[in-house]
Amino acid sequence: MPLSATSDRDRHNQDPQPALPKATFNFRCIGCGSVISNAAQDFRCSRCDNLLEITDPSWKLLSPRAAPLKTLWRERRSSNAALDLSGVWRFRELLPMPESERHVVSLREGNTPLYELPRSSRLTGVLRLYAKHQGMNPTGSFKDTGMTVASSFARQAGHRWVACASTGNTSASMAAYAARAGMRSLVLVPEGKVSWSKLSQALDYGALTCQLRTDFDGCLRLLQELVRRAPVYQLNSINPFRLEGQKTLAFELLEQLDWEPPDHIIVPGGNLGNSSAIGKALLEMRDVELISHLPKLSVIQAEGANALVRTLREAEGKQLIRVQAETRATAIRIGNPASWEKAVRVIQATGGACEEVSEVEIAQAKAEIGAEGIGCEPASAVTLAGLKRFVRSGFVKPGESVVLVLTGNLLKDPDFTMEFHRGDLFPVAPGDAGDRLNPLRHPPVVLDASLEAVIQALERAEKSGPAHPNV
Ligand code: F0G
Repeated sequence: MPLSATSDRDRHNQDPQPALPKATFNFRCIGCGSVISNAAQDFRCSRCDNLLEITDPSWKLLSPRAAPLKTLWRERRSSNAALDLSGVWRFRELLPMPESERHVVSLREGNTPLYELPRSSRLTGVLRLYAKHQGMNPTGSFKDTGMTVASSFARQAGHRWVACASTGNTSASMAAYAARAGMRSLVLVPEGKVSWSKLSQALDYGALTCQLRTDFDGCLRLLQELVRRAPVYQLNSINPFRLEGQKTLAFELLEQLDWEPPDHIIVPGGNLGNSSAIGKALLEMRDVELISHLPKLSVIQAEGANALVRTLREAEGKQLIRVQAETRATAIRIGNPASWEKAVRVIQATGGACEEVSEVEIAQAKAEIGAEGIGCEPASAVTLAGLKRFVRSGFVKPGESVVLVLTGNLLKDPDFTMEFHRGDLFPVAPGDAGDRLNPLRHPPVVLDASLEAVIQALERAEKSGPAHPNV
């Protein structure tokens, strides 16, 4: 959208639900490049079956206006207008816009903190190390930034049902936005492989929740067939509106860094929508001269769900190598990632890399992010584990600046956290040489309800040293 002559606040004062500037975006196939104005229900190219992405010729016109755009976005942070309170719609000049503000479904998503990580910085030797915590979104994950955009277009099109396949976070987010919009939602999740915390969110928001006897890849396959047969609108990240909303992570991050790009951005990879969205945003920001150069965008996967790692290593990114996924980081337990081609392109365009990390490395990194007083869910912790590998291999140098994208809140997977601290996850006998995990565990202690018992517990804790190992 081009910048309008009147300020947004003026428009809000005149009309509580103003018509927005006419949409000028299109869908472009990432395979054959065909451009179409309307996408089919499966969001695939009718010619070559590849995925679509959203483009808008008006975005290019923004390039001579990068400086006023930065000022406008910053000014909106002090506005109380509904669109401006959202950390997604605040950046609407680089997003597809619904026809009217009336269609916008928002829970005040985005506006997430950028934290310094002093402890992990000492651990890794990387002096300028930050975490962009998307777990601080309304439903506790980065999915909300994409869901506000995609659910707004679902509402505009008048859909009664929205649906997704999910490892948990997408379903929680979709169910929340559907409830806000008065739409019904259908959730397909792999039975036994989704944390109760995420599943319970979908239940409270009123989704029809189906636990299927398959994995995430099986759920997504079934959904693809369903959208061709039943009148449901799919809200997986195959839906390119989702990725448009998820671009705002990068806009907001660069604004928080005063538009000075970091050397590296490191993100977990599952279905690979998020890395694709962040990469798209970086390229668009460079094209309109909001930033002068690109950060390297790198993706980390669990060893047991390493389809992208193998695709790049064994097939030079030219064809997908599917895997049978297994990891306790259930959010990224995905073996057939839908957006693999989009992710390969942005990794290669930015000079990034792809790495895998072990289950023990994930658990250790998660506890270390907890020790920062921040915390995250297991899938997010792959970023710190991956950074350590990158430092060892020399891909990341101590003098460079690094942003880890934490995708989900600590509260998303309490079972993992409890098992870890109780010592049930990767148990190692105390005193075993080489155990890195035990000093990070803080199991709860059960005591008689007496002052004496609590004072003794305090004294024992004091004697055993600091809560977290010194680094
Ligand atoms: N981190 C978390 C916490 C996630 O929930 C997901 C994906 C990812 C990382 C990976 O992101 O798929 O864009 O590469 N969760 C999806 C879901 C699959 O259904 O909630 P991705």
